[in-house]
Amino acid sequence: MSLVEEPVDAARSASDGLAASLESLALTAVRAAALAAAEHAGSGDGKAADGAATEAMRVILGETKGRGTVIIGEGEKDKAPMLYNGEQLGDGDGPRFDIAVDPVECTDLCAAGLPGSLTTIAFAGDGCLWSPGPGLYQDKLVVGRAARDAIDLREEPEHNVKSVAAALGKPVDDMRVLILDKPRHVELAARLRAMNVAVVMPSAGDVAGAMFALLPGTGIDMLMGVGGTPEGIMAACAVKVLGGGMQTQLAPQSDDERDAIIAAGISLDEILDAESLIRGPAIFAACGITGGTMLEAPRNMAPGWISTHSLIVSPGSYRRIVESTPVFEPNLSEG
Ligand code: FBP
Repeated sequence: MSLVEEPVDAARSASDGLAASLESLALTAVRAAALAAAEHAGSGDGKAADGAATEAMRVILGETKGRGTVIIGEGEKDKAPMLYNGEQLGDGDGPRFDIAVDPVECTDLCAAGLPGSLTTIAFAGDGCLWSPGPGLYQDKLVVGRAARDAIDLREEPEHNVKSVAAALGKPVDDMRVLILDKPRHVELAARLRAMNVAVVMPSAGDVAGAMFALLPGTGIDMLMGVGGTPEGIMAACAVKVLGGGMQTQLAPQSDDERDAIIAAGISLDEILDAESLIRGPAIFAACGITGGTMLEAPRNMAPGWISTHSLIVSPGSYRRIVESTPVFEPNLSEG
């Protein structure tokens, strides 16, 4: 695979090498961040978990060959430690690539020691990730491959659910839709429940929600509702690789956010699909911090051995999506 669009043949093997090294970088970064954040799981201190995971990722990304630019790093809306938009990482000696990152997705769950927190990162080619500018929230629709052409954010939610049900060949009242449990979604959930649709409402985590909608056999047919933009960009990377369907539209949650988007000259009306959000191939990776239905928490196997549970979604690893990685930790060998 390549992380530049339509590479000329002569450049293909070089870009294949780049893709393989970025897969490995993604897995190393999410694992390091998960081990760092897990130290703070259940501490009640989400900022400490965010800080530790961010620093672990910064070190790993900083040591890499080439130059990664953070296009979107989660943390701004919660004033949390973060990898900053525009921050450049790497030794500069090699390929250039874009980064979308949330070192701790579902910080509150991590702080409370509850299942569902993940470390997450996505890479695409240089200049290939769309930036929402000051936009912090977006409305999202995500479905798997079979229903990729059945969604339209301009239509009413009822229409979309019926259309996806038809594409999946199931009755509407067999549909299960994941929506974050937020006050802004009370009406949406009620409308879907009025159709006898099962609405699954976690308190946090629409990256995992998007993965559930994308991957077969999870019991979730669709993600709907408003969540963070970094989470949306990372999910779009996975959508691209897995051939699912996604549509998004910026959905500011305050006047300040709306004004900042307008001042930045970014359209509030435009509906963007995964192809428009991510140009060219992409990689998405996540690692479990506190465990849950998607990825397990790090486990001490023996002194010096810690097992982490990571997900890599990339063209090169398409068929081995979940990877369990007990890896020797040299610096813990005396433990
Ligand atoms: P963080 O804990 O990493 O901030 O994100 C958790 C999350 O639920 C995301 O999955 C979602 O996109 C976003 O928060 C929604 O934001 P908010 O909680 O402000 O509605």
